[in-house]
Amino acid sequence: VSAERIPGGFVDAAILERVRIGREYVAAKYGFRNHWYPALFSAEIAEEQVVPVQLLGERILLKRVDGQVYGIRDRCLHRGVQLSRKIECFTKNTITCWYHGFTYRVQDGMLCNIVGAPQSAVIGKKRIRTYPVQEAKGLVFVFVGDDLNPLPPLAEDVPPDFLAPGLAVRGVRSDVNANWRVGCENGFDSTHIFIHRDAELIRNNDLALPLGLVPKGRSSFQSVEEPGAPKGVFDLFDPDHVTPVFEGAIDQQTVLTGNPEAANKLPHHISIWLPGVLRVHPWPDPTLTQYEWYVPIDGERHIYLRTLGKLVAGAEEEQQFEREFEARWRPLALEGFNLDDIWAREATEDFYRDDTGWLREQLFEADGNIIEWRRLASRHNRGIQLPEHLR
Ligand code: FES
Ligand SMILES: [Fe+2]
Repeated sequence: VSAERIPGGFVDAAILERVRIGREYVAAKYGFRNHWYPALFSAEIAEEQVVPVQLLGERILLKRVDGQVYGIRDRCLHRGVQLSRKIECFTKNTITCWYHGFTYRVQDGMLCNIVGAPQSAVIGKKRIRTYPVQEAKGLVFVFVGDDLNPLPPLAEDVPPDFLAPGLAVRGVRSDVNANWRVGCENGFDSTHIFIHRDAELIRNNDLALPLGLVPKGRSSFQSVEEPGAPKGVFDLFDPDHVTPVFEGAIDQQTVLTGNPEAANKLPHHISIWLPGVLRVHPWPDPTLTQYEWYVPIDGERHIYLRTLGKLVAGAEEEQQFEREFEARWRPLALEGFNLDDIWAREATEDFYRDDTGWLREQLFEADGNIIEWRRLASRHNRGIQLPEHLR
């Protein structure tokens, strides 16, 4: 990795020097720049509402005006305070700084007025940073990066079928005290299902979830890297590619057993995509697919935004899915089952926090797909995010 791609100071240069695989990935503690990230759900930001978010270490204010969500940097040009400390909006199209009244137009970030000093020469001359925002499937996506022209399409930063017409999406989000990569690797890890063995979801939906899914070799996962399309790594969970383990023994003594006879043999494949979104298909039911993002908040936290998608024929089916989602899948899957994942990530974070974990870890055969993900992300990311003091 060239020095200009990763200026030092936030990941120890001596550590990076010793990383053999996926060096850019290891350097991307704050995430990959110039990608689209979901910040929240569309329903969480009403007309004229202002919502502060933090993505990849950048503080951003979102405001919805006439249906459209706009993003500006949450830092006043004047004295650098966070506008979100006290949100003041006197007109629909603007946000005013609570301190001295600098007023910014949300559409283009222009300093269009200073409420207490209307004759100032800087009015109309300075602009606060803006962020492209796009809504899709009930999610608000923000492009965190530079003024790229053309802007990469959202379709390249989501799993290939996520934007399909007819796919209804519902989900939840929470903040997790772990780096975003710890999130990605927990989701994509094919033997971590060990932690889920007692989940209520398994009994409730008669799932044949093994204690581990052991890949038979390199052919059990495949990289997808066509130009102009999403970049990701696919795991194949069919009997040709993996061995499901349902009986756990220590010294020939059986200690745990799964239920291979259960009706729902899921999932069939899991894939992970840049900039850090997992697709589990089908899951947690034969008619559903789980899509989940691990969005960097900063170097030590991520937004775990998880959704279920279902192909529906119309509004009525979508409403039926919504009822089922609220009554069953939200509590059992996204909030029940996935709490195990949150717990595991927060428990993993200690080891990787100072970046020495990337050198001290001892991965084994089953982690080959994770290595492949690190390589692919290093090859295809659009830039490494730096912490604020280096940007
Ligand atoms: S710090 Fe915002 S107007 Fe002065
Ligand atoms: Fe999991």
